[in-house]
Amino acid sequence: MSELLTIDGLSKAYFTAGRQVAALDNVSLGIAAGETLGLVGASGSGKSTLSRVLLRLMQPDSGCIRFEGEDWLSLRGAELRRRRARMQLVFQDTLGAFNPLATVASGLSDPLRIHGIADRKQRQAEIITLLERVGLPAAFASRPVHTLSGGQRQRVAIARAVATRPSLLVLDEAVSALDVTIRGRILELLVALQRERGLAYLFISHDLAVVRAISHRIAIMDAGRVVEEGPAADVVTAPRSDAARRLIAAVPRLVTEPV
Ligand SMILES: Nc1ncnc2c1ncn2[C@@H]1O[C@H](COP(=O)(O)OP(=O)(O)OP(=O)(O)O)[C@@H](O)[C@H]1O
Ligand SMILES: [Mg+2]
Repeated sequence: MSELLTIDGLSKAYFTAGRQVAALDNVSLGIAAGETLGLVGASGSGKSTLSRVLLRLMQPDSGCIRFEGEDWLSLRGAELRRRRARMQLVFQDTLGAFNPLATVASGLSDPLRIHGIADRKQRQAEIITLLERVGLPAAFASRPVHTLSGGQRQRVAIARAVATRPSLLVLDEAVSALDVTIRGRILELLVALQRERGLAYLFISHDLAVVRAISHRIAIMDAGRVVEEGPAADVVTAPRSDAARRLIAAVPRLVTEPV
């Protein structure tokens, strides 16, 4: 598989109250087209910082990112806005950041308009297609966002993220707030969308069990560093780092599980 995203030697430190935190410390990772890389690590290990740097919401102190063959960190202005359609973010409560009184349709029409995906006349039809694709009835278009359940909101967030026809979704704790049944359904939706569209995912979570269920490869972060990376099954069954072993030990087992 060809490399879609290559992260090379990325570092980022925060300075607060006279203290320096190395949130990213020489991070290097790659993701192939159509692949899911799971990124797991304890709270504060730097996962969301990496997602912010990838989405160009924050500049790193050093390092390179190549995305779709381009020097991603050097893109500016109109060119950056245009290329942003290709890498989209879904986080824990994406729609929570939006006007809760706005309708689902207006939340979905913004990216279509901004990226010139569909003209005014086509937009309504495209919104219905997107909603149906993520398993929501067309009537949801006129619902205010605040009337949706958490699972429904994440479906809309996924619809909005794929509206711009990206090649990569960064999913930062995108299913963490959902109950276990809904979480399973959303993971199934993500897998189906990946197969249909050849999407790649950077799937970020502190929960190794969830990451194992969806990832082809897994990278483990600890205190700003990638301490382990490999095929998902290998990382889970034969961890090499203490951080990976700690995460595996934290996965709850059913008390009735045979030994
Ligand atoms: N804006 C900021 N200013 C100062 N320090 C920050 C800032 N954002 C994050 N940090 C610190 O950087 C480190 C990495 O934080 P980050 O949010 O990237 O971790 P995370 O792995 O996403 O954690 P979680 O699993 O809790 O979401 C932490 O020590 C955090 O306290
Ligand atoms: Mg985070």
